[in-house]
Parts: sequence; C-alpha cells; structure tokens
Amino acid sequence: MWLVDELMKPFNSMRNSIPGPKAKKIVDREQEVISGAISVKFFPLVPERGEGCILRDVDGNIYIDLLGGAAVANIGYSHPKLVEAVKDQVSKLQHAMIGYYYNVKAVEVAEKLVSITPGSFEKRVAFATSGSEACDFAIKIAKFYTERPWVISFTGACHGHTCGAASLSGFKGVMKRGFSPLIPQVVWAPYAYCYRCAFKLEYPDCRAACADYIKDHILDHVVPADEVAAIIVEPIQGDAGVIVPPREFLAKLRAICDEYGILLVVDESQTGMGRCGSWFAVEQYGVTPDLLVCGEGLASGLPIGAVVGPSEVMSLPAGSCLLTSAANPVMCSAVLATIEVIEEEKLLENAVSIGELVVKRLRELQERYDVIGDVRGKGLMIGVEIVRDSASKTPAPRLTGEISWRAFQLGLILPVYGLKSNVLKITPPLNISEELANKACDIIEKAVEDAVKGRVQLAAKTW
Ligand SMILES: Cc1ncc(COP(=O)(O)O)c(C=O)c1O
Repeated sequence: MWLVDELMKPFNSMRNSIPGPKAKKIVDREQEVISGAISVKFFPLVPERGEGCILRDVDGNIYIDLLGGAAVANIGYSHPKLVEAVKDQVSKLQHAMIGYYYNVKAVEVAEKLVSITPGSFEKRVAFATSGSEACDFAIKIAKFYTERPWVISFTGACHGHTCGAASLSGFKGVMKRGFSPLIPQVVWAPYAYCYRCAFKLEYPDCRAACADYIKDHILDHVVPADEVAAIIVEPIQGDAGVIVPPREFLAKLRAICDEYGILLVVDESQTGMGRCGSWFAVEQYGVTPDLLVCGEGLASGLPIGAVVGPSEVMSLPAGSCLLTSAANPVMCSAVLATIEVIEEEKLLENAVSIGELVVKRLRELQERYDVIGDVRGKGLMIGVEIVRDSASKTPAPRLTGEISWRAFQLGLILPVYGLKSNVLKITPPLNISEELANKACDIIEKAVEDAVKGRVQLAAKTW
C-alpha cells in the first residue's frame, strides 16, 4: 500500500518536474531507437512501478491511472495473485506451443471462458496473442463457416492494427493511409452514436434507425445479404470515445444476423472481463453473439487474445489459425489469476458501484460547466465529451487536451480519445477504491476549472 499512502499526501510535496530528468532521458533514448509508428503517446510518462490503480514514474511522481493500460489492466498493477501465478508458471514451463503440445493451462482457461461467455450452447475457444489477431481470426472463422466474402463493420470501429483488424476498422485514416490494398469486401455502417446521430434523429423516437439502415440500404443495395459472412461490432465503441449504443441497436443487429444467416461477431477487447459491470458488455443488451472476441483484458494486460464461439462454427481445418505464442502457459496462468481475482474480490460489483459514483460526480460537474457535453458509460468504461458549448456541441479537442494535460500535472492519467479527439476516457482498473475514485474526480474538477479559465499551458510536445 505504499504507493497509495504517498498518493494521499498533498500533491505539491511529492511532484517533481514533468517530465522529470530521468523520464526525459528515456524519452530521448526511445526516440533514437523505437519507431514512432507504434505509439500515440498522450504524456511523457515513464512508469517504473505499479500497484493497484497507481503508477510511479522513474522520477518518483505518482499517478492514479484512469487509462488502466488502455482498458485492460483490469485487476490493477502487480496484483499479488497475478504475480504469484506468473512467477510460478514461468519457473516451471514458459512455453508450450499449442500447435504441437497439449497445454493444461490453456484447457483450464478455455473451460472458464466457455462458462463465463454468453450462450448455453457447446463452445470452442481459439487463442491469439492480442485483440487484433483475435479479430483477424474471428473474420477468418466467419468467412470459412459461412463461405461468404463480405463483412459489415461500423464507422468509429477500432479493431486493431494488424492488416486484417485495420481493414475492419473505421476509426482514423492513419490506420490505413499508405497500406492499401487491405482486406477487401468490408462495408461500414453508421454506429449508434446518439449524441451525434448520423441521421440527425433523437433516441428513443428513432428506435435505432441506424440498425435499420443496414437492413434497408446496405443489405438491399450495397452488398447481397447472402454474401455477408459477419457483422463485427464493439458493444460500446472504445477508442471512438466510449460510445454507448441504445439497447435496441444490438438487438436489431442480432435479428438481422438471424434473418440472413450472418454471424454476429462482438469485439469485447475493451469492454470485456468485467469492465462494464458484467463479464461481457453484450450481456447487458440481452444479446448472444455468435463469436465473442477477447483481448488483453483477459490477463489484466499480458498479451493474449481469444475467440469463443459455437463448436460447429469453430471447426476449421487443423492448423488454419495457428500462432506460435498463442495460449502461452504463462499468459494462461495470468488469465486464471485474473478471473479468480475478479470473482473473489467482486470486481463486477465494484465496477458498477464505482462507475455510478464517478458518473454522478461528472454529471454534477456537467451542471457547472457547459463545455461538458455528454457523460456516458457502463461500469468503469466512461466517456466525457468536451464541446465548445452544449448548444452547438462543437467538438473542443484543444480544451480536452488542456484538461488532460492539467490532470496529468496534478497526478491523474486521463487520456484523450474520440473520433474528434474530444473525449476524456475513464477506464481504470476494476479494483479502484471509492477513496481513489473520489480523489480522481477531485482532480478532474480542478483540471476542468483550470482549463476553462485559461490557466493551462499545453506543453509543446518536446518529449
Ligand atoms: C475493440 C478493440 N478491438 C481490438 C483492439 C486491438 O487490440 P490489440 O491492440 O491487443 O491488438 C483494440 C485496441 O485498441 C480495441 O479497442
């Protein structure tokens, strides 16, 4: 608990300059040897140690981490059970190639996954090493099973950066520019972004007309329904800015898939493993997907991914989806520890109650600041959309950056996401305490006040 104790001291007594001298050196060294293509860093943060929801950097600065390792460090940093499980496994057997050996830890993980994922049918699991790869596999599986070529995805979707996953994404041009030809025969439908409806309609009167658009327009005029293998969807869009669709949206997608023999692929890379207050977010929509995709949240951030689906759909030829490091026994031990901790520490419940607390505090703040256009989320997946004013809803990316930067200066990691870079995304570890959540909200209040009053100088990106 030493990091928490230090955190609760007054901020000024413990903060060095940012980036501190040691961090600055690492930042400079990284620029000399690591390709910029693999990062979009929000801050010059060089974490050295983590404990629960707190990170300490190389200069001794301490932060509450609302990024949660990009929504995947679900049981926090250095959880003793995770540490023990990983140490124990690596000391016994660090690798057992699933393609050639039987792997007891992989079997145990698969047994757990088939029991906690929605659907009471017989299931099988395919393992990958990341969310992107798992999305790639889900599409291979869907195409193979249906013998159809097309996939429907959504504007704002982020399914990852491999060639396949980038082909499915509808998020930022940088994911695709210069990389064509990507995987063909993907078509994008508008996502249910009610705050900025593509059809300028209002929920609930619209009755999720965006889902009807797929049936009435895309399947009628753009691609033949009987050539569509899958609809791939995030139950809540993460990187696009925590966009929470209404219940009818996913239910209508399910109905369209049933009508045309299309597979519904739900990508729970960010929303899964308890983040939204249930094992998987899609459960809260009363929808059972055909294929469910998991990413690193499975192992609280260690590299693993998985696709879970009906046995019949998952029966592809031997070796058709085989990765050397998939279902690595160390990662699988981390998955088992993660699931055990989520169950034992009642983290689904904690995600709900702390999520409600945070949303309440943010909505109170919204009453005071017209620049807070929307506060939305489920469990501990929360987005705060920053606008010039609530009437115009004009995105305010600079102000969002200023709030985020001020929060960072005050010891809070509060990243900027969103299609227009104007959404503050809150996805901390699920074991965040009420005390820390309140402290995080206090910092957000101060950061919003300072940014709105023009007191924040955005650091020139010198790191
Ligand atoms: C919904 C979703 N799917 C897939 C991915 C890709 O996961 P990974 O970075 O582990 O490949 C991401 C990453 O941002 C994601 O948000």
